[in-house]
Amino acid sequence: MKHLIAPSLLAADFTQLDREVKLVNESKADWLHLDVMDGRFVPNITFGMMIIKALRNICTKPMDVHLMIVEPEKYIEPFRNAGADIISVHYEACPNLHRTIQLIKESGAKAGVALNPHTPVGVLKHLLEDIDLVIIMSVNPGWGGQKFIYESILKIRELKDMITAKNADCLIEVDGGVGLQNAEKILMSGADVLVAGSAVFKSMDPLKTIQQLKNVGQDAVFT
Ligand code: DX5
Ligand code: ZN
Repeated sequence: MKHLIAPSLLAADFTQLDREVKLVNESKADWLHLDVMDGRFVPNITFGMMIIKALRNICTKPMDVHLMIVEPEKYIEPFRNAGADIISVHYEACPNLHRTIQLIKESGAKAGVALNPHTPVGVLKHLLEDIDLVIIMSVNPGWGGQKFIYESILKIRELKDMITAKNADCLIEVDGGVGLQNAEKILMSGADVLVAGSAVFKSMDPLKTIQQLKNVGQDAVFT
Protein backbone atom coordinates (compact mmCIF):
# COMPACT_ATOMS: atom_id res chain seq x y z
CA MET A 1 0.00 0.00 0.00
CA LYS A 2 1.25 3.46 -0.81
CA HIS A 3 1.69 5.56 2.28
CA LEU A 4 -0.81 8.20 3.33
CA ILE A 5 -0.23 11.86 4.22
CA ALA A 6 -2.25 13.59 6.93
CA PRO A 7 -1.46 17.30 7.30
CA SER A 8 -2.08 18.48 10.86
CA LEU A 9 -4.21 21.61 11.07
CA LEU A 10 -2.48 22.56 14.33
CA ALA A 11 0.24 24.34 12.35
CA ALA A 12 -2.19 26.16 10.05
CA ASP A 13 -3.09 29.85 10.20
CA PHE A 14 -6.15 29.84 12.47
CA THR A 15 -7.34 33.16 11.10
CA GLN A 16 -7.60 31.47 7.69
CA LEU A 17 -9.03 28.04 8.46
CA ASP A 18 -11.31 28.09 5.45
CA ARG A 19 -8.39 28.71 3.10
CA GLU A 20 -6.13 26.18 4.86
CA VAL A 21 -8.70 23.36 4.74
CA LYS A 22 -9.42 24.10 1.07
CA LEU A 23 -5.70 23.92 0.39
CA VAL A 24 -5.70 20.42 1.89
CA ASN A 25 -8.77 19.54 -0.20
CA GLU A 26 -6.90 20.47 -3.36
CA SER A 27 -3.71 18.69 -2.37
CA LYS A 28 -2.53 15.10 -2.62
CA ALA A 29 -3.17 14.68 1.12
CA ASP A 30 -5.16 11.62 2.13
CA TRP A 31 -6.56 12.73 5.50
CA LEU A 32 -6.86 15.93 7.54
CA HIS A 33 -5.36 15.43 11.02
CA LEU A 34 -7.11 17.33 13.83
CA ASP A 35 -5.50 17.64 17.27
CA VAL A 36 -7.95 18.01 20.15
CA MET A 37 -6.29 19.03 23.44
CA ASP A 38 -8.03 19.62 26.75
CA GLY A 39 -5.45 21.27 29.03
CA ARG A 40 -5.53 18.17 31.24
CA PHE A 41 -4.09 15.22 29.35
CA VAL A 42 -1.71 17.71 27.78
CA PRO A 43 -1.01 21.27 28.99
CA ASN A 44 -2.27 22.90 25.82
CA ILE A 45 -5.87 23.56 24.74
CA THR A 46 -6.87 23.64 21.08
CA PHE A 47 -10.38 23.09 19.73
CA GLY A 48 -13.28 20.69 20.11
CA MET A 49 -16.28 19.30 18.29
CA MET A 50 -17.84 22.64 17.38
CA ILE A 51 -14.86 23.63 15.25
CA ILE A 52 -14.61 20.14 13.78
CA LYS A 53 -18.29 20.21 12.87
CA ALA A 54 -17.83 23.54 11.10
CA LEU A 55 -14.77 22.26 9.24
CA ARG A 56 -16.71 19.17 8.17
CA ASN A 57 -18.78 21.41 5.93
CA ILE A 58 -15.75 22.43 3.90
CA CYS A 59 -13.39 19.46 4.25
CA THR A 60 -13.56 16.84 1.50
CA LYS A 61 -10.91 14.52 3.01
CA PRO A 62 -11.45 11.99 5.80
CA MET A 63 -11.08 13.70 9.17
CA ASP A 64 -8.52 12.01 11.42
CA VAL A 65 -9.28 13.18 14.96
CA HIS A 66 -6.52 12.73 17.56
CA LEU A 67 -7.99 13.08 21.05
CA MET A 68 -5.41 14.25 23.58
CA ILE A 69 -8.00 14.44 26.34
CA VAL A 70 -8.81 12.65 29.58
CA GLU A 71 -11.93 10.46 29.70
CA PRO A 72 -12.24 10.35 25.89
CA GLU A 73 -14.96 7.69 26.21
CA LYS A 74 -17.37 10.49 27.17
CA TYR A 75 -16.87 12.28 23.87
CA ILE A 76 -16.76 9.57 21.20
CA GLU A 77 -20.34 10.08 20.04
CA PRO A 78 -20.09 13.93 19.93
CA PHE A 79 -16.90 13.78 17.85
CA ARG A 80 -18.40 11.19 15.55
CA ASN A 81 -21.50 13.35 15.15
CA ALA A 82 -19.27 16.32 14.40
CA GLY A 83 -17.91 14.39 11.42
CA ALA A 84 -14.84 12.46 12.56
CA ASP A 85 -14.05 9.52 10.28
CA ILE A 86 -11.18 8.22 12.40
CA ILE A 87 -11.02 8.69 16.17
CA SER A 88 -7.83 7.97 18.11
CA VAL A 89 -7.57 7.94 21.88
CA HIS A 90 -4.47 7.77 24.02
CA TYR A 91 -3.54 4.51 25.68
CA GLU A 92 -2.41 6.55 28.70
CA ALA A 93 -5.87 8.13 29.07
CA CYS A 94 -7.91 4.92 28.92
CA PRO A 95 -8.08 2.51 31.87
CA ASN A 96 -10.69 0.50 29.92
CA LEU A 97 -9.15 0.82 26.48
CA HIS A 98 -10.84 -2.23 24.96
CA ARG A 99 -14.26 -0.84 25.85
CA THR A 100 -13.39 2.60 24.48
CA ILE A 101 -12.28 1.01 21.20
CA GLN A 102 -15.62 -0.80 20.98
CA LEU A 103 -17.41 2.52 21.54
CA ILE A 104 -15.52 4.10 18.65
CA LYS A 105 -16.32 1.21 16.35
CA GLU A 106 -19.98 1.17 17.33
CA SER A 107 -20.13 4.87 16.44
CA GLY A 108 -19.11 3.94 12.89
CA ALA A 109 -15.68 5.57 12.99
CA LYS A 110 -12.33 3.85 12.50
CA ALA A 111 -10.57 3.32 15.80
CA GLY A 112 -6.99 4.30 16.65
CA VAL A 113 -4.80 4.23 19.74
CA ALA A 114 -1.98 6.73 20.29
CA LEU A 115 1.12 5.91 22.32
CA ASN A 116 3.22 8.53 24.08
CA PRO A 117 6.98 8.37 23.53
CA HIS A 118 7.59 6.52 26.82
CA THR A 119 4.90 3.87 26.26
CA PRO A 120 6.19 0.61 24.80
CA VAL A 121 4.36 -0.79 21.78
CA GLY A 122 3.99 -4.16 23.54
CA VAL A 123 1.01 -2.84 25.54
CA LEU A 124 -1.08 -3.16 22.36
CA LYS A 125 -0.17 -6.78 21.63
CA HIS A 126 -3.63 -8.09 22.50
CA LEU A 127 -5.53 -5.26 20.84
CA LEU A 128 -3.97 -5.12 17.39
CA GLU A 129 -6.75 -7.12 15.75
CA ASP A 130 -9.38 -4.78 17.20
CA ILE A 131 -7.99 -1.46 16.03
CA ASP A 132 -7.55 0.22 12.65
CA LEU A 133 -4.44 2.21 13.46
CA VAL A 134 -1.79 2.99 16.04
CA ILE A 135 -0.37 6.49 16.35
CA ILE A 136 3.25 6.42 17.39
CA MET A 137 3.88 9.80 19.01
CA SER A 138 7.34 10.85 17.94
CA VAL A 139 7.21 14.00 20.10
CA ASN A 140 5.60 14.60 23.47
CA PRO A 141 2.00 15.52 22.70
CA GLY A 142 0.90 19.11 23.22
CA TRP A 143 2.57 21.24 20.59
CA GLY A 144 3.58 21.23 16.98
CA GLY A 145 7.04 22.10 15.74
CA GLN A 146 9.03 19.83 18.06
CA LYS A 147 12.01 17.69 17.21
CA PHE A 148 11.46 14.06 16.15
CA ILE A 149 12.44 11.61 18.90
CA TYR A 150 14.73 9.14 17.18
CA GLU A 151 13.84 6.19 19.43
CA SER A 152 10.46 6.23 17.67
CA ILE A 153 12.08 4.49 14.70
CA LEU A 154 12.71 1.44 16.89
CA LYS A 155 9.13 1.51 18.12
CA ILE A 156 7.79 1.65 14.55
CA ARG A 157 9.90 -1.37 13.58
CA GLU A 158 8.83 -3.34 16.63
CA LEU A 159 5.16 -2.52 16.06
CA LYS A 160 5.42 -3.44 12.38
CA ASP A 161 6.80 -6.86 13.36
CA MET A 162 3.93 -7.34 15.84
CA ILE A 163 1.32 -6.43 13.20
CA THR A 164 2.93 -8.71 10.62
CA ALA A 165 3.12 -11.61 13.10
CA LYS A 166 -0.60 -11.27 13.86
CA ASN A 167 -1.47 -10.60 10.23
CA ALA A 168 -3.54 -7.71 11.59
CA ASP A 169 -5.15 -5.04 9.42
CA CYS A 170 -3.73 -2.13 11.39
CA LEU A 171 -1.97 0.98 10.08
CA ILE A 172 0.98 2.70 11.72
CA GLU A 173 0.64 6.49 11.84
CA VAL A 174 3.62 8.58 12.95
CA ASP A 175 2.91 11.96 14.52
CA GLY A 176 5.38 14.67 15.49
CA GLY A 177 8.48 16.18 13.92
CA VAL A 178 7.87 14.50 10.57
CA GLY A 179 9.11 16.23 7.42
CA LEU A 180 10.95 15.73 4.17
CA GLN A 181 14.22 15.28 6.06
CA ASN A 182 13.13 12.08 7.84
CA ALA A 183 10.06 10.80 5.97
CA GLU A 184 11.92 8.16 4.01
CA LYS A 185 13.55 6.66 7.10
CA ILE A 186 10.19 6.60 8.93
CA LEU A 187 8.48 4.90 5.99
CA MET A 188 11.30 2.38 5.64
CA SER A 189 10.78 1.48 9.29
CA GLY A 190 7.20 0.43 8.55
CA ALA A 191 5.01 3.54 8.83
CA ASP A 192 1.85 3.76 6.71
CA VAL A 193 0.62 7.28 7.55
CA LEU A 194 2.70 10.42 8.05
CA VAL A 195 1.24 13.31 10.03
CA ALA A 196 2.93 16.59 9.19
CA GLY A 197 2.02 19.93 10.72
CA SER A 198 4.83 22.46 10.58
CA ALA A 199 6.52 20.72 7.68
CA VAL A 200 3.45 21.44 5.56
CA PHE A 201 1.89 24.65 6.83
CA LYS A 202 5.11 26.51 7.64
CA SER A 203 6.64 25.68 4.28
CA MET A 204 6.84 28.15 1.42
CA ASP A 205 4.59 26.00 -0.74
CA PRO A 206 2.33 23.65 1.30
CA LEU A 207 0.80 22.03 -1.79
CA LYS A 208 4.21 21.15 -3.12
CA THR A 209 5.41 19.88 0.26
CA ILE A 210 2.41 17.56 0.52
CA GLN A 211 3.14 16.28 -2.98
CA GLN A 212 6.79 15.74 -2.06
CA LEU A 213 5.86 13.88 1.11
CA LYS A 214 3.51 11.73 -0.94
CA ASN A 215 6.27 11.00 -3.44
CA VAL A 216 8.88 9.97 -0.87
CA GLY A 217 10.18 6.53 -1.71
CA GLN A 218 9.38 6.87 -5.38
CA ASP A 219 11.72 7.82 -8.15
CA ALA A 220 9.52 10.77 -9.00
CA VAL A 221 10.93 14.02 -10.25
CA PHE A 222 9.63 16.82 -8.06
CA THR A 223 8.27 19.85 -9.80
C1 DX5 B 1 1.30 17.04 18.71
C2 DX5 B 1 0.24 16.73 17.68
C3 DX5 B 1 0.74 16.69 16.30
C4 DX5 B 1 1.33 17.98 15.81
C5 DX5 B 1 2.46 17.66 14.90
O1 DX5 B 1 0.79 16.88 19.98
O2 DX5 B 1 -0.35 15.47 17.94
O3 DX5 B 1 -0.24 16.22 15.40
O4 DX5 B 1 0.41 18.78 15.11
O5 DX5 B 1 3.07 18.83 14.55
P1 DX5 B 1 4.49 18.85 13.80
O6 DX5 B 1 4.31 18.08 12.53
O7 DX5 B 1 4.74 20.29 13.63
O8 DX5 B 1 5.46 18.17 14.73
ZN1 ZN C 1 -1.72 14.62 16.37
